[in-house]
Amino acid sequence: MPFAHITGWGMYVPEPVLTNDDIAKLVDTNDEWIRDRTGIRERHIAREHEFPSTLAVEASIKALRVANLAPTELDLIICASSSPEYIFPATACLIQDQIGATKAGAFDLSAACTGFVYAINMAAQAIRSGSIKNALVIGTETLSRFVDWKDRNTCILFGDGAGAFVLQASEKPGGVLSAVMRSDGSGADSLTLLGGGSRHPASEATIHEGKHFVQMDGKEVFRFATRVMGRATLEALELAGMTTDDVKCIVPHQANYRIIETAAKYLKLSMDKFVVNVDRYGNTSTASIPIATVEAAQDGRVMPGDKVVFVAFGAGLTWGAMVVEWTGPIPTKKHVHPEQYRIIARLRSFVRRAIRFIEGFLSRKEL
Ligand code: UT7
Repeated sequence: MPFAHITGWGMYVPEPVLTNDDIAKLVDTNDEWIRDRTGIRERHIAREHEFPSTLAVEASIKALRVANLAPTELDLIICASSSPEYIFPATACLIQDQIGATKAGAFDLSAACTGFVYAINMAAQAIRSGSIKNALVIGTETLSRFVDWKDRNTCILFGDGAGAFVLQASEKPGGVLSAVMRSDGSGADSLTLLGGGSRHPASEATIHEGKHFVQMDGKEVFRFATRVMGRATLEALELAGMTTDDVKCIVPHQANYRIIETAAKYLKLSMDKFVVNVDRYGNTSTASIPIATVEAAQDGRVMPGDKVVFVAFGAGLTWGAMVVEWTGPIPTKKHVHPEQYRIIARLRSFVRRAIRFIEGFLSRKEL
């Protein structure tokens, strides 16, 4: 049975930075309160022309470059997002078109901030089953578009960004070693974005009632998060036959510094064992784990052979954890430039649209 290795990684955040002082000009809050209660100092906010797919493309090209893999070799793209571009088509399909992944299946996965952990596990299982060889898994968000900038409970928390991993099959043991995925829909109302779905289609009333904004019972989510983070970590470690002593570091969902601290206390670990960058990006939901991991890999904090835990929680309620052995690119003599495929992809997309238009025109004439 092949193993599913993480062979490439990339991240991208939009350039504009919104500091706590900037937010204090919008709502009744201040830098000290936000830093004390959340650990966040600043977050990046997407510009008007940036969307989950465009952020994801930047992160994905970087991940493919690290893996030295052409987009045309991808079999599957899974995009986890809490702020997808549309209800449909899937953001994953927009990414597939823009990077030129000509033979990849593509779909979105909705498990809120736990989405990236779920998605890595789904891609890994597809590789383990032998049905695919190469997968691209993305977490991408422009949650700033769904935040009520008059609500100080939520607008201080979220940031935009994207992170991507390439997963590849190899007979060499390693890669994704274990995973747990959990949910509890009885807590569905603690963290919601109700408007625009089939229960509350967009209308004047839904806009008036603020249903198109993130709504959150912060205290409830905080309590839930501190309950599940440590437990899920231990469950994933037990499945892999390991303890926290075997682990180089834990990359938790970056929602709140205090939540991570509580998990560290529960696990009787020092905060040094946790990768934390919530101070610079805020909560980027599905993108938070890959962004933190990419930074850790770039800093040399995560090296090939290291055992790493990813642990996340989010709306749903959902939570999950996984243990991976960090790999890095599979050695090969070929040298791939994934960014060059973007130009061909744009041309290909244009030609395919033109063909569809002509076919439509001709078939109308025939009818
Ligand atoms: O991916 C999952 C996403 N969500 C989360 O992870 C959220 C988890 N929850 C949290 O991170 C925290 O609950 C928050 C950061 C949202 C809030 O922190 P808290 O320590 O739970 O504060 P609180 O809601 O208990 O509010 C304490 C006080 C209240 O005032 P009173 O009632 O004591 O007078 C709030 O009105 O702080 C007030 N407050 C603020 N003050 C200044 C609430 N938000 C703010 C603010 N600035 N932004």
